[in-house]
Amino acid sequence: MEKPFSPACERNSDPILEVLEEVILPSDRRLLEIGSGTGQHAVYLAPHFPALEWYPTDLSDKLAGMKLWFQEAKIQNIQMPTRLDVARDDFPKLKFDIVFTANTFHIMHWKDCKSLMKLMGKRLRENSRVVIYGPFKYNEEFTSESNAEFDKNLKARDPLSGVRAFEDVNNNMAKNGFEIVADYEMPANNRMLVFNRLKFSP
Ligand SMILES: C[S@@+](CC[C@H](N)C(=O)[O-])C[C@H]1O[C@@H](n2cnc3c(N)ncnc32)[C@H](O)[C@@H]1O
Repeated sequence: MEKPFSPACERNSDPILEVLEEVILPSDRRLLEIGSGTGQHAVYLAPHFPALEWYPTDLSDKLAGMKLWFQEAKIQNIQMPTRLDVARDDFPKLKFDIVFTANTFHIMHWKDCKSLMKLMGKRLRENSRVVIYGPFKYNEEFTSESNAEFDKNLKARDPLSGVRAFEDVNNNMAKNGFEIVADYEMPANNRMLVFNRLKFSP
């Protein structure tokens, strides 16, 4: 099997790092990544946060490919990747300070995005953070022509996928106990949304 490769990860890893350097605190110990894909983000980003254990996850069919990256890179603070399908799996039974996910909300069906947001509300404690990278639309409008085109292409492949509305994500996150603390403009018409878990109420 050949190591999978994402050119987009090569381009967006540095801008993502800049934001994570603002969001990750020295006291943070565990980061859970949802939909790690090729594993390139973990390989690039984890060494910048040596006090943090990075937990990559994805659907089963992605795990073998990302293991090739991890075996080659031999990075101390990346854990073995595990299957986490947000439609059916719980998080590993650990306390996570950060959940990071890149380019997943427009791929996962909306009901699965909602399952993930519910799960984060259930499993994250006060002051944990959620960082979501990807394209979003605002007030029913795409932020660029290319994002509108991207949305069309996504829907042609899978009608239940598509660029999500910021307002829907924000409302659902609020419903699950999070407040938005930052919305960064990123290269190539992407955004990076940062949420903070409010006081936990069971
Ligand atoms: C466009 S890729 C992004 C991969 C990587 N995060 C990146 O930025 O290159 C979307 C990822 O979401 C994953 N995914 C799709 N449905 C999922 C689900 N129900 N649960 C977890 N991951 C899912 C896919 O397997 C895929 O790896």
